[in-house]
Amino acid sequence: MKEKNLKRNDQIEVPQGPLGVLIPGIGGAVSTTFIAGVELVRKGLAEPIGSLTQLATIRLGKRNERRSPKIKDFVPLASMEDMVFGGWDIYEANAHEAALYARVLRRDHLDSIKDFLSTIRPMKAVFDRAFVRNLDGTYVKEERSLRARVEALKEDIARFKAAHGARRCVMIWCGSTEVFLRQEDDIHGSIDALQKAIDASDPRIPPSMLYAVAALESGVPFINGAPNLTIDVPAMMELAGREGVPIAGKDFKTGQTLMKTILAPGLKSRMLGLEGWYSTNILGNRDGLVLDDKDSFKTKEESKLSVLEYILQPHLYPTLYKNYYHKVTINYYPPRGDNKEGWDCIDIFGWLGYPMQIKVDFLCRDSILAAPLVADLALFMDLAQRVGMSGIQEWLSFYFKSPMHKEDLYPEHDLFIQLMKLKNTLRYLMGEEQITHFGLDYYMNDEKS
Ligand SMILES: NC(=O)c1ccc[n+]([C@@H]2O[C@H](COP(=O)([O-])OP(=O)(O)OC[C@H]3O[C@@H](n4cnc5c(N)ncnc54)[C@H](O)[C@@H]3O)[C@@H](O)[C@H]2O)c1
Repeated sequence: MKEKNLKRNDQIEVPQGPLGVLIPGIGGAVSTTFIAGVELVRKGLAEPIGSLTQLATIRLGKRNERRSPKIKDFVPLASMEDMVFGGWDIYEANAHEAALYARVLRRDHLDSIKDFLSTIRPMKAVFDRAFVRNLDGTYVKEERSLRARVEALKEDIARFKAAHGARRCVMIWCGSTEVFLRQEDDIHGSIDALQKAIDASDPRIPPSMLYAVAALESGVPFINGAPNLTIDVPAMMELAGREGVPIAGKDFKTGQTLMKTILAPGLKSRMLGLEGWYSTNILGNRDGLVLDDKDSFKTKEESKLSVLEYILQPHLYPTLYKNYYHKVTINYYPPRGDNKEGWDCIDIFGWLGYPMQIKVDFLCRDSILAAPLVADLALFMDLAQRVGMSGIQEWLSFYFKSPMHKEDLYPEHDLFIQLMKLKNTLRYLMGEEQITHFGLDYYMNDEKS
């Protein structure tokens, strides 16, 4: 991505026509809560709570200028009215049936938009049980070779675009968490290596990578909402750069990790020490079932564990954070469905090393927290594409548990720095001054002080 190629201010095209939102895993809890939510908002039956693009304002200029437009009035974003939905799942249920199965939204909410939801039917998925062992859906493509599967997905994308008259699309992975994979240079190291592995139908290439290749080769931005490796390898970054397409990931930051990235920066900013952080969850939805497989959980665990290390920076603060104990577990417990309960037991220490404890019991709703992130990411990634921002979109770290980053940079996990980064990117794109929160300038030449 070259600065000179970026479109800024009034060079940014105003979005026109439908925006296609393509979702692998369209029959899941997050997807159906997102789609139903957008339609309920469009019909004036609910508010888009939790969505920055719809509700947040952005301060411009000095504090005494009192300019704080809504983000959606400041940057030329597509609107939720423009969204059209498509996607793939391994179960054939339409979006109304799938949303009822997910048991996130109330029946009266779903029934008020039943006609709309019933028209959204999944396309047959690319699926391989070797990567998601606890599911066995049968609504899958017949193509046997990996190359034929990629081509079939590209045809699906082209057909969807034509059917909806959507010149612009984004793809957002809301599919199940795949088993833990490590980067292997012989298949992930370059575009060439990846293409050869696809041609050879290498069994180490998971479905999520095939969706990502299909998206990028179709000029469609790709967002990874799960902790899968998927686009986090050099081959995909190279492909995104070559195709001039933005990518972002990974693993939506909701629930317990959201709380962690709110609390940990606070403790660190006060130079309070950490002895241990024990986190456990109960979750009873299909995601919980998938994560009951130890290899899928390992993918999630890696994503959840890295957060504290980067926020607390033990190498800079050995007295405070050298040896803290951090443990994360997720237990599948069907009675709770999508209503996760996350407990945190945090052992901290203060002045002279005296110990203290914090307990957090977050009775959250996983998909209610995730759905607005899907909406924001779809709209921001469409903006990134129109502006010419290709490759990793670090400014969207705000939305992810494991934000993608350039190899020589460490990821930024602190929610408040992430928000500042996001808003400053928008200010930069619109030719407004960056806000540093310096503030002394208000007082320096003040005659009275
Ligand atoms: N809900 C949250 O707060 C949250 C937070 C972070 C990450 N995530 C991740 O988002 C993803 C979706 O979560 P969810 O709660 O909706 O799970 P879910 O199990 O309800 O939905 C996942 C869907 O993906 C489908 N699927 C699996 N493999 C597929 C494939 N190869 N192609 C197409 N469809 C496929 C499944 O059939 C299912 O319908 C999971 O990976 C989860 O870990 C969720």
